[in-house]
Amino acid sequence: MKERTFVALKPDAVKRKLVGKLIERFENKGFEIIAMKMVKLNREMAEKYYEEHKGKDFFENLVKFMTSGRIVAMVVEGENAITAVRKMIGKTNPIEAEPGTIRGDFATKTPENVIHASDSKESAEREIKLFFKEEEIFSE
Ligand code: PPS
Repeated sequence: MKERTFVALKPDAVKRKLVGKLIERFENKGFEIIAMKMVKLNREMAEKYYEEHKGKDFFENLVKFMTSGRIVAMVVEGENAITAVRKMIGKTNPIEAEPGTIRGDFATKTPENVIHASDSKESAEREIKLFFKEEEIFSE
């Protein structure tokens, strides 16, 4: 089943110049980047993006981190993209993420865990809409 998922390369990934390496992983796997932009989130946008986590003890730290620098937002399309991309990025805590996953290979702690990907169809739809207009998405 062909799906679309939302992926964000976080401020630490951009600062560490990992953008090319990370995009390459998705392209090597056979997924297509059908939309992409560089964005500097403001507080309002970051709070909206992570609204489901409002009230959690890490929320403030997460918003601060996500507004600390540029991110690269993408829509990734392909077979079972939502589940497959979550597998590729690995567990949230990079120390628990398996080697071979993105977080397992590139990160050691939160919130600097390099990448975000939608965890469900509903999140994917919501996050894609938050970052992209329909005419900015190129699907064949
Ligand atoms: S939960 O409570 O299980 O739903 O949370 P989780 O899915 O593990 O994480 C939700 C997002 O919060 C980020 N996170 C953190 N940020 C800052 N500090 C700490 N300690 C922390 N722990 C988790 C985590 O990376 C998730 O963001 P995304 O962008 O999805 O990676």
